[in-house]
Amino acid sequence: MSDPVEYEIRGGVAVLTLNNPPVNALSSSLRRGIIDAIDRAAIDRAAADPDVRAVVLSGRGRCFCGGADIREFGETPVPPSLPEVIARIEASAKPVVAALHGVAFGGGFELPLGCHYRLSAPSARVALPEVTLGLIPGAGGTQRLPRLIGAEHALGMILSGEPVDAETACKLGILDAVTDEGGLVDAAIAFALDRASEGGPYPTARGSVPTEPENGFFEGERKKIERRARGLIAPWHCIDSVENVFRLPFDEGLATERELFMECRGSEQSAAQRHIFFAEREAQKIPGIPRDTPVQFIETAAVIGCGTMGTGIAMVFAEAGIPVRILDKDSGVLDKGLQRIQQTFAGAVQKGKITEAEKDTRWAMVSGTADMDDLKDADIVIEAAFEDMAVKREIFAALDAVCKSGAILATNTSTLDVDEIAAATNRADRVIGTHFFSPANIMRLMENVRGAKTSPSTIATVMALARRLGKAGVLVGNCDGFVGNRMYHHYTRQASFLLEEGALPGQVDTAIYDFGFAMGPFAVGDVAGLDVSWRIRQRRAETRPPDERYSAIADRLCELGRFGQKTGAGWYRYDNGSRTPIADPVVEDVIRSVSEELGFQRRDIGDDEILQRCLYTLVNEGAKILDEGMALRASDIDVIWTSGYGFPKHRGGPMFYADRVGLKTVYDALCCLADIHGDLFAPAGLLEKLARQGKGFENV
Ligand code: COA
Repeated sequence: MSDPVEYEIRGGVAVLTLNNPPVNALSSSLRRGIIDAIDRAAIDRAAADPDVRAVVLSGRGRCFCGGADIREFGETPVPPSLPEVIARIEASAKPVVAALHGVAFGGGFELPLGCHYRLSAPSARVALPEVTLGLIPGAGGTQRLPRLIGAEHALGMILSGEPVDAETACKLGILDAVTDEGGLVDAAIAFALDRASEGGPYPTARGSVPTEPENGFFEGERKKIERRARGLIAPWHCIDSVENVFRLPFDEGLATERELFMECRGSEQSAAQRHIFFAEREAQKIPGIPRDTPVQFIETAAVIGCGTMGTGIAMVFAEAGIPVRILDKDSGVLDKGLQRIQQTFAGAVQKGKITEAEKDTRWAMVSGTADMDDLKDADIVIEAAFEDMAVKREIFAALDAVCKSGAILATNTSTLDVDEIAAATNRADRVIGTHFFSPANIMRLMENVRGAKTSPSTIATVMALARRLGKAGVLVGNCDGFVGNRMYHHYTRQASFLLEEGALPGQVDTAIYDFGFAMGPFAVGDVAGLDVSWRIRQRRAETRPPDERYSAIADRLCELGRFGQKTGAGWYRYDNGSRTPIADPVVEDVIRSVSEELGFQRRDIGDDEILQRCLYTLVNEGAKILDEGMALRASDIDVIWTSGYGFPKHRGGPMFYADRVGLKTVYDALCCLADIHGDLFAPAGLLEKLARQGKGFENV
């Protein structure tokens, strides 16, 4: 095995190179290796290398360092800790210069913050993304960064976890200089020798005097995160720890940061968020489709349909720098859609998210057409037309005739049979479902639906494309509703049954929101539009078993023309143009009359019952999906729900959550519910089997 830290002396400078592929994660052996190398080169004692005047710390491979080894967080800590490593660097009598390329994230950024100087290649990015894993930076990040760049910028980075590019980092004072792309290490060596010639003491972040933020700054920050950080531990600890910079001496601040970090590290929340981190990467691995499967590079794309979905998808391509042409036969719809795209990009400029130049670049990627012939050269066409099989088949037959032979034809259907759509073409191997979620330019999920004949290279290409588009791509099987909507259907249906029995929409939504979901099911319905699911229910009516329990409340609301926010009324009512849901007596009347018709004696329903019935229904359907092979693994279902349906990441997704509750508990609860409410709650075979074996979905 090669050394985790390479040691080489170049012109009087010890160049230490982190070498732990793929991302130089700071495993225990790498941490030990850094300490040994620093001791050898620079610690001011007799054994230190007398030929060494300075040290450069760099990384081998694609990046400087992707941070602490996240896998180790589930295990007992092994010394030396990262703070010990950094303390050693900081104490070096010889100047230590970090040379950053690619990413320097988390511990991989805290390490350079402990160096005396930092240089980077232009493409480098620095970040403290710990909060996204339910953690706070635990190796000095919250103490050193504010001392370098002030509390405002530091807390901004720590709370968002967002990367900062080299140029900005240099302006902020994080970096001392940005070098040429290719000559980073040479430049760092020259820089280190110059500093050594000038002599010490060398600057440290610990020695920088922090600038006090304005009065009330921290309270203001706490206020800002109130909603999005509800129920979370880490973001609040991040603020507390940064505030300590102005309250405590450096070493005490560091010790407190470590305590807060260890508390987060041991929390269920962080375990759940780490689960999602690895689950998203695991979802990329498709059995039978090796990583070296030939992938077609998508240079141009087309989208059919210029409605909300079509324009959203087009924006995703434009943002990724892929030229995209939108086709709509209706010139009015096309013009309106193109306008909407332009307005969204302009809005992003106004919000300071992108520059005017970036807006222009994005807009230049988009073009519209009414002529199918204009799509003949596209590498992929995504159909986002009306959700109707006949319409889709007609479009696919036409596309098959026009598009070049290698082009992938994808459908954004959310429920229809991909094989039936593919059968309208002579290239079923190049037909696939790419199910985006609304609003497509914001929601991260991309459910890729494999048809019976979809080829491995089509799957590999679309999975790679999802990554390029910044989406969480998950491959699923071809069944009604696929994975996400199939589960969602059971979840919302259960929520409606609760209304029939005694609950009201606001109560159900609050219980689900308090659990951590972005929104409750009824509030979501109003945003998405109740007419969409109404159409789907009408389509399914013919095949629905007559004895199956069915809630007609939503249909009644639609019959009253209440389609949600867009009509100012749905499950709630909305004041002119407002998006704030207001409980509506009309809805309560509808609910009460349905309860009466069904003979229900309305009763008080507690939040626990609401959660159990909604969440366990999800889990149960997830188990069936897993058993049928429609999802490859339980963790794929968790990715789908956390990236597409607002399931709280700090609960890890429905399947992880069920494992943590214990499948025996879930199974027993479902059995009790089945006794009261009938077969609707009958536990899935897989759930029963695992519960009996004392196993979890993670063992499937
Ligand atoms: N610890 C352990 N493994 C890590 C890791 C880390 N900090 N960062 C990445 N990996 C692993 C991934 O799990 C993946 O493994 P796999 O190939 O077996 O699935 C592999 O490294 C490559 O990661 P991937 O994310 O697919 O590569 P990328 O080039 O797209 O992105 C990073 C690289 C470093 C930007 C990204 O992985 C990342 O953001 N990592 C986490 C950074 C972080 O939060 N650090 C703070 C930890 S407290």
